[in-house]
Formats: sequence, C-alpha cells, structure tokens
Amino acid sequence: MLQNPKRYTITAALPYTNGPIHIGHLAGVYVPSDIYSRYLRLQGRDVVFVCGSDEHGVAISMKAKKEGITPQEVIDKYDGIIRKSFSDFGISFDNYSRTSAKIHHDTASEFFRKLYEQGDFIEEVTEQLYDAKADQFLADRFVVGTCPRCGNEEAYGDQCEKCGSTLNATDLINPKSTITGETPILKSTKHWFLPLDRYEDFLKEWILVGHKNDWKPNVYGQVKSWIDGGLEPRAVTRDLDWGIDVPVEGAEGKKLYVWFDAPIGYISSTKEWALREGKDWEPYWKDQDTKLVHFIGKDNIVFHCIIFPAMLKAEGSYILPDNVPANEFLNLEGNKLSTSKNWAVWLHEYLEEFPNQQDVLRYALTSNAPENKDNDFTWKDFQARNNNELVAVFGNFINRVVVLTNKYYEGIVPTPNELSTADETILTELKAYPAVISSSIERYRFREALGELMNVARLGNKYLADEEPWKMIKTDPARVQTQMYVALQIAAALSSLCEPFLPFTATKLSRILKIEDKIDWETVADNSDLIPTGHKIGEAELLFAKIEDEEIQKQIDKLEATKTANLVENKVAEPQKELIQFDDFAKMDIRVGTILEAEKMPKANKLLILKVDTGIDVRTIVSGIAESFKPEDIIGKRVTVLVNLAPRNLRGVESQGMILMTNNAEGKLVFVNPDADGVGNGETIN
Ligand code: MF3
Ligand code: ZN
Repeated sequence: MLQNPKRYTITAALPYTNGPIHIGHLAGVYVPSDIYSRYLRLQGRDVVFVCGSDEHGVAISMKAKKEGITPQEVIDKYDGIIRKSFSDFGISFDNYSRTSAKIHHDTASEFFRKLYEQGDFIEEVTEQLYDAKADQFLADRFVVGTCPRCGNEEAYGDQCEKCGSTLNATDLINPKSTITGETPILKSTKHWFLPLDRYEDFLKEWILVGHKNDWKPNVYGQVKSWIDGGLEPRAVTRDLDWGIDVPVEGAEGKKLYVWFDAPIGYISSTKEWALREGKDWEPYWKDQDTKLVHFIGKDNIVFHCIIFPAMLKAEGSYILPDNVPANEFLNLEGNKLSTSKNWAVWLHEYLEEFPNQQDVLRYALTSNAPENKDNDFTWKDFQARNNNELVAVFGNFINRVVVLTNKYYEGIVPTPNELSTADETILTELKAYPAVISSSIERYRFREALGELMNVARLGNKYLADEEPWKMIKTDPARVQTQMYVALQIAAALSSLCEPFLPFTATKLSRILKIEDKIDWETVADNSDLIPTGHKIGEAELLFAKIEDEEIQKQIDKLEATKTANLVENKVAEPQKELIQFDDFAKMDIRVGTILEAEKMPKANKLLILKVDTGIDVRTIVSGIAESFKPEDIIGKRVTVLVNLAPRNLRGVESQGMILMTNNAEGKLVFVNPDADGVGNGETIN
C-alpha cells in the first residue's frame, strides 16, 4: 500500500450503455467511489476521479438488434440518460467520457500498436465459433452455453457470471448462438492473443505476495484461485463490426475486444480532463507516487486484477492499481438485479419519483452496502433507514439545535460559560471523529464510516436529552448558553463530516447554519470553536422528510407489476393437441351456470364441493380449486360448465360435471374469462 501518495487517480467502472443505471451499480461502484473521492478532496489531496460510458462490445450490438436501431443510436440514448442521472445524483466525477470519443479510439489504438510493435502479442489462426445462419463469428455475449467449471447453463462466451471464470467461447459446452439460436460451427480466423501465462510470476509477486494484507479478501481470493488455476493466452481482438478497428495490417474488419479497450477508457478520460483543465495527465498514470484505485463490481475482478494489469505491465510505462476494492452484488427484494428483466430500481426514475432525496438513497445504499457479501435492497428497509435514522436521529438533532437557538437567542450563537465535565467529554469525543471516520474510509469500509458519522448525530441527541436545555431555560439560563454553544459545535462538525456521504445534506446544513467556508476535517479534529459566538444562523428547515407507507407501497406495486409482466412474457404455451372433427366438439355440452353453494371437502386440500345452477338443474360438482379459492368467495360466481361429462365419484361424492378453469400468469387457477387478470393467450381450458 502506497504511503502518503502525492496524488490519486480514482476510477469507477465504465457502465455499458445498453441500459440505464440502477441501484446495483450505485451500491457496488459509484456511491463508494464518490464517497472516497469527496473525502480525499475534503482533505485537500490532489484527486482525479474518472469514469465514462463503455460503448463497445456485444452488449451494445445486441441491444441495438433488440430495439431495431443502430448501435450509435443505442449508445447516444443511454449515454445521455446515464450522464444526466449521475450528475443529478451528485456523483462528483472530474470527468465522464465515452469510449466512442476520438480521444479514446486514438488512445486505445496507440496502446495496442505499442504492444504489437514490442512483440507482446501472439498472432494465431484458430478455429472459432461461427453462426452460419447469421454469417457471423460468435464471441462474448453472442454465444451462451454451459460453463465447463461450474455447470451454469447460461455462461457467456467470455465469462461465466455464476462462478466468475473468464472463458473462451470455444470452452463452452453445448454452445448456442444468441442471434439465431443455432449451434455454431468452427471456422478458422486470425487473432491476436495476450499471453497471460507470461505474466504469472509477475502477478504472483505483485498481488499474492504484495497485496495479501491490504486487498479485500473477496478480491484476493478470486485472484488467487485464477492464478493458481493457471493462466492462458487470451484473444484481445474479435470478428465484429462494432468497436475500435484493430490498428495493424492484415486485421481488416476486426475490432479490439471490448475488455481490451474499455479499461484504457480510464486513461482517455483522464486525458480529456487534463486537456480541459490545462493539466498534465501523465503523472496521474505514470508517477510511482500516484495512488491508483479501481472501484468495480465483483464480476469485473479478473479484468482489473489480471488482464488490465498485464496490459499495463506489458506497455511498461504505467503504474499499477494500489487497490481494487470490488464489492459483491446487491439484490432487490430477494432477486438478482437484471437490466433485461427490468428487475431494478432505475436511478433516473428514482430521481423523478423522489425529487431532492438523493441523499436518502445514498444513505440506504451505503448503510446496506454489499461490501463483504451479497446484500438485499428492500423498500421497507429504505423507508426505515430514512424514517428511523435520517429523520429521527440526524434531522431531529439539527432541528432541535436550530429551533432552540432561534427561540432563545434569535439565531445568534451564545457565549458559553464554564464548561462542565460532560461538555468537555463531548467536545473531546467530537474531535476524535475525523480520525475514526477517515480510518474506515481509507480502508474502504464505507458502511462502518457512515455508522460512525451517525454516532456523531447520536452523540448530539444524547447530549440534548441528558441536559434538557428546554427545562433549564427557566431555572439556569446561563447554563443553557453553554449547552447550546456545545450543541451548535456538534451541528457544525456534522455539516463537514457528512459531506462525502450526504453531499446535498451538507450543502443544506451549511446553508441553515450559514457556514460559508467549508470546515475541513483537520479543523474539526483540532478546534472546538467551529461556529463562534456571535455568528448568526438561519431559520430551521427540515433536513429529511418522513417517507409515508403509500410512497413505499407504490414502489412495491411497481415491482409486482414487473414480475407479472415477466411471467406473461416468458410463458411458453403448451403445444397444440391433435386435430378433432366438428362432431367431436359438438359432443361437448358446455353451459353457463352459477355457483350457489360451496364447501370444503373434508380431509382434502384441493377439493371443493359445489352446488351449481346449470339452467337445467342444480347439481353437485366436485372441483379441484380449493387451493386457489375460499368457498365464501365464489358463491354467486358465474361459471362455464361441461355438463355432459360422465359422473365421477370423488371421495364418496358424485361429481356431475366440470367447471372450466385456466391459469393466470402466476400459475394460479382462475375461472375461464379471457379478460381476467394475467390470463395469457395460449392458456389451455381444462
Ligand atoms: N462495462 C463493464 C461492466 O459494466 C465495466 C467496464 S470497466 C472498464 O461490467 F474497466 F472496462 F472500463
Ligand atoms: Zn461457471
């Protein structure tokens, strides 16, 4: 670990522009990297925080096919949405670029050419998977099959998302083209390979020995198991028509592998920033005193810990990452987040539906961050974190301080009298917090850091509850001056300490307290006079608003609707039965009837005994619908009845006909009525 770096280069994984940003991306990558960068800037360190859109690769081509538009239209659309949502959410990138930018094409091409000229690639003609129907080579996400390592049947041609292995498309068992569904054939083609096996010793020394103690165990463990499993040459070019041209002769029509160009995007984004700001980009990537940190999700570990470092090492003039603090995954209400299944809370939608509540989401995601294991986001937890923590602890403390200061002193910070032991203790404790929170942040433990921040607010609340200035104001107003002075110092400290986590709150709180120059953490640690006697604060404003049950229910309903829509969409209709003649059909006597009575069949879970008015008579029908309906709910129901079905004896009761039923999207039985909720086309009636 680099001690006392001169500067920091912080990268956040470039999001694919095949969909908008959701809470999984935020919790895994963008919120922690933003906390870290904001924290460093507050300490006055030299920081560049870069990101950009990842616009090449098969993910984009597939999305374009699906939407019937060009890849360019896809990337423009999502780059726009992503860019705006990051900015509205307060992610403080110094630069957000895109890999379709000229500066990136140039940087990536130059990088490739340099390795090519140095002889760092193996050039080889090999047999690759080819979809004859689509007339196209298949790699990466154009092919799915069974993972040879873990048996996952939905592994992609470059990676298995289940076990995290990187794969070659030809490793897949039972490969299928995702374009046509065809089984591919083998066809030979020339490609350039990065011989990762040549970097095994370097990687072992650098990571397995050098970063044994400072990298997160989940990251270290994954890397170790790959290295121990042996590394193989990996193709860094593709036969595709979307991407960066392979910039050497004899490579016409070929493109760089997206995972070759994308991480170089961090470098291009830094260059773009430096050009705009009149700075030199090179020290941020080449000076040994620079601390390079990659924030990523766990599915990106191999690319950032093995492949990209091997590329940087091969190039020769770059530094290597000091840390790669990858997070695990966040789930949503118990299920894996999925762009294609629309199982997500989309950032741009959140920003519209919860205006000015960016910090609530930042708070919920950080306090429940999947730092060491997968975690679950639930709307109930989101609500509870807001109402019980932000509103009840943080907001409540600030509100009491501001209201009382206005009430007793017309908003002017009072002169303290002699400090009690309790006051001294509180002020000493307060001074310790910057170091405590810093230490957690510097070790990438953001939820722990946030917990400590909340302890500052708790400290304030406890102080007020113990001292009760609202009672003492009548008996000992001189003492209250001291109490309010102390409480105001805690409030001022909070306005600075919360900035990395809750930047919008920090701004609002500074405005309420009328603090114009940001207080830095060193001042909080050294000085107890953060907001001096005689300073006039502003009026009370609510920092956080309670979130009501209805708002949460709306979100839960929205997810339920997504579930139903997915079920309907994915349902495969049963194949048609063999043909019958009209006479066969005419034999069936189907009538409309009404259920008059219903009761449960004793000792049977599934059966109800019904009395049905068929228009001909009132008869008994035993129906297997007890798991779907309560007897009392179906009395009076109009139904369709097959009346001439030969009577059958069920558990001693003669059933004289059959009520026609079908299934809804969730597989539940419903009465035949094509307009009933969720009944899809193709449901059989039986
Ligand atoms: N687009 C990739 C993903 O979403 C991440 C790319 S990170 C970079 O998984 F290093 F390649 F930029
Ligand atoms: Zn696998």
